[in-house]
Amino acid sequence: MSDQRHIVIFDTTLRDGEQSPGASMNLREKIEIAEALAELGVDVMEAGFPIASEGDFEAVREIANTVRGTTICGLARCNDHDIDRAWEALQGAASPRIHVFLATSAIHREFKLKMSRAEIVQRAVDGVRRAVGYCDNIEFSPEDAVRTEQDFLCEVVEAAIAAGATTVNIPDTVGYATPAHMGQTIAMVKNRVPNIDQAVISIHCHNDLGLAVANSLSAVEAGAGQIECTINGIGERAGNCSLEEVVMALRTRNDYYQCDTEINARRLVPTSRLVSSVTGMQVQRNKAIVGRNAFAHEAGIHQDGMLKERTTYEIMRPEDVGFAKTDLVLGKHSGRAALADRARTLGFRLTAEQLQRVFFDFKELADKKKEIYDGDVVALIEQQLHGTADEHWKLVTYEILSRHDGQPRVRMTLRNGGGDATLEVTEGDGPIDAAFVAIEQITGLSLVCKDYQVRSATIGRDAQGEASMEIEHEGRSYRGVGVSTDTIEATLKALLGAVNRIVDEQHAA
Ligand code: KIV
Ligand code: ZN
Repeated sequence: MSDQRHIVIFDTTLRDGEQSPGASMNLREKIEIAEALAELGVDVMEAGFPIASEGDFEAVREIANTVRGTTICGLARCNDHDIDRAWEALQGAASPRIHVFLATSAIHREFKLKMSRAEIVQRAVDGVRRAVGYCDNIEFSPEDAVRTEQDFLCEVVEAAIAAGATTVNIPDTVGYATPAHMGQTIAMVKNRVPNIDQAVISIHCHNDLGLAVANSLSAVEAGAGQIECTINGIGERAGNCSLEEVVMALRTRNDYYQCDTEINARRLVPTSRLVSSVTGMQVQRNKAIVGRNAFAHEAGIHQDGMLKERTTYEIMRPEDVGFAKTDLVLGKHSGRAALADRARTLGFRLTAEQLQRVFFDFKELADKKKEIYDGDVVALIEQQLHGTADEHWKLVTYEILSRHDGQPRVRMTLRNGGGDATLEVTEGDGPIDAAFVAIEQITGLSLVCKDYQVRSATIGRDAQGEASMEIEHEGRSYRGVGVSTDTIEATLKALLGAVNRIVDEQHAA
């Protein structure tokens, strides 16, 4: 008999992760991520907060109706209206869960909720009971649990379980805990709540002190059976516990933790890439598990050791977390089958139509660039999959003049349903600012640049530039990405990608 404990992986990329500034996603993107999470093998996915907006409601409902093989969860505050709305969104799921939360710490009670302890306990019980009326899989979270008085935390948790909660989550909402403190808190709940054996203890750590993964592991050691986490650790402020790190820590140090998860680790890198390209939040190079340098050995002494015996300096194999084994070089003569094979190896599932479009771009690129690396293929695919919404505005041609000591000049032609529009401007502080002016004047939209990044997709001076742009329009944020061997063109494509999302939304309204 195995004494391994199974740890439930509760992914909240689509809820807490989406709360990262600039990470909001549209319906199509949320569904794509939900399907990737199901393939990754998460046990529970928190698909959103249905009361928050029509968009959130629609996304949870669509995911609940279509994604199978995992439990679909929706978040609700502890009131009838939120809980009813969450259930309305979730009822089509094969395995639904309602997640009810209510703050319990003195700071939240006094300043946010203006409620007494007794009122909090009653509200928690009423909320859980209402949710139990809809389904039998209920999670309760005492928000800011880590800063809640221990006696009171135990009292609320006991009452929530008695009311029917099947999972009790201990959130470190503000990322305040340290590993030893978190371990003690979980042990305290386990030892002092009399009915704790009727529920799974869950842990939800924010990363404000950079300790979210360490705190979650410490909670598991003390008896937590569920970890709440996000892909790439995205989330409010400094983010949440990173799924890929915590899963690989449990797996690599199984000798110590004696716990495992159902995660298919070979899907970690592709899922991380997907979330990064959809949210525009780049993964830092040295990020554990999924960063570009996570398995790069630079020091001579390390390389020498690796050549003699891989395990001298490597505790995990890159292919086990989903990195492609070799950076195979494609070129002008590579056919569609080679490209399709490479896309599959890199973790993308393309439809025949998507493959055809990527192949077209691939051939164009192969005329400009002799060697096409994995990074190029990923950039082309991501541009096709997430780069632009409908092309309401399309770049036809442009000329940009940048001068050391003078005004930039931009001449640009854009196409939309009404035909071509050409404009020349000689204003702005540099060529990118001038391009903004031209696009604003042609489209009639006011655009504020909130973030702009350009990076090379691969090595070499003929590498493709990947531009990513976050634009604010009428108080809302829109993203666009563009790829080209010419970074100015990549930038214009990214800018138009964001513009097309604005127009998409205007048409939908
Ligand atoms: O951080 C937090 O407290 C939360 C709760 C809703 C679980 O995200
Ligand atoms: Zn949170």
